[in-house]
Amino acid sequence: MTTLSVNALAQSLGELPPDQIIFGNSDIMQAVRSRLGKVAAANVPVLITGESGTGKDIIARLIHGLSPWKVGPYVKVNCPAIPGTLLESELFGYEKGAFTGAFGSKPGRVELAHRGTLFLDEISELDMSLQSKLLQLLQDGQFCRIGAQEDKKVEVRVVCATNRNLEAEIEAGTFRQDLYYRINVVNIRMPALRERRGDIENLAAYFLEYYNRKFNCKARPLSSETLAVLRKYHWPGNIRELENLIKRYVILGHEDVITSDLVAREPDYFNSEISLDGPISLKKMTRQCVRELERKVILKVLQHHHWNRKQAARTLGISYRALLYKIRDAGLPSNRALRLRQEEKNKLSDDDKSSSSGAAAD
Ligand SMILES: Nc1ncnc2c1ncn2[C@@H]1O[C@H](COP(=O)(O)OP(=O)(O)OP(=O)(O)O)[C@@H](O)[C@H]1O
Ligand SMILES: [Mg+2]
Repeated sequence: MTTLSVNALAQSLGELPPDQIIFGNSDIMQAVRSRLGKVAAANVPVLITGESGTGKDIIARLIHGLSPWKVGPYVKVNCPAIPGTLLESELFGYEKGAFTGAFGSKPGRVELAHRGTLFLDEISELDMSLQSKLLQLLQDGQFCRIGAQEDKKVEVRVVCATNRNLEAEIEAGTFRQDLYYRINVVNIRMPALRERRGDIENLAAYFLEYYNRKFNCKARPLSSETLAVLRKYHWPGNIRELENLIKRYVILGHEDVITSDLVAREPDYFNSEISLDGPISLKKMTRQCVRELERKVILKVLQHHHWNRKQAARTLGISYRALLYKIRDAGLPSNRALRLRQEEKNKLSDDDKSSSSGAAAD
């Protein structure tokens, strides 16, 4: 088994977070680490699945960096970024005169990845004819440049990634089942950030330190209240969303940016999923739903009373002290935070506003 030392690889792979940050402490990430160590050494195709922003790109680079072909090329193809008509020539290359405008011949990325790793990101974007060509490559290592008379042979390790459910795509008839079996010899599933909440604090601290250094800022470590909010949030955009949020905090220098941002993304907070992978505790889930509902009601009443907590407590029929406790427990921003948010809002540039709303999709 390959020994994992991400730090030693960082230079050859471009900047990577340290080993303990990438894998954290959760059991689910330790399982990823162990699987990665085993598959990197074997020349088999790997399919990396997981929601957007979970680190699939990082894992693909690690597979290459830990493989015996690490001295060879690492060629990434971002399938959705290349228009359908160009993708075939980008991937497989072409011969002179293959089509109008083909004044010379050109190797494709498959060829450029010879004796290295070909990373096909968002593989579900390949159309059916390209899927057939890829299948041939995986079956016998052969492919044909556009306009060529003969097949070429190449030795390449293929790593694919997707945030889609390929089995559903097969059902829908848009993805070839035989290709799926070929690319999915080993599957690495990247867990969503909400499945590894115990790692959130360390990830946040890492990004804070990183962006403080990068932007030459001195943003302070996050308070325990803010960390509690981060631990509770649903994180639809996963680590990328957390990273962008901390980046905004470092630049704007105010912790309320975080709490007010997450409250604004409230719908995502309640979008809890029911995982059928393991046992389900009905009691625990019911308790969680009640807490979430309570939080939603409190938020609504507070907003209705323009964050006047005394009036809100009266409306809710609880004591002022009980409401303060519940606000803190639910990770809602304090009254002061909201006031500052209003001021902040006036100061925010258009640019900043767009980066905030695009944080999850960035
Ligand atoms: N385990 C991790 N530790 C530290 N940073 C991470 C980790 N995983 C992801 N990141 C950071 O989060 C961002 C998103 O990661 P990455 O691009 O690898 O995700 P992805 O799964 O490929 O997303 P997409 O499906 O949108 O392509 C990057 O800036 C990356 O550096
Ligand atoms: Mg990616």
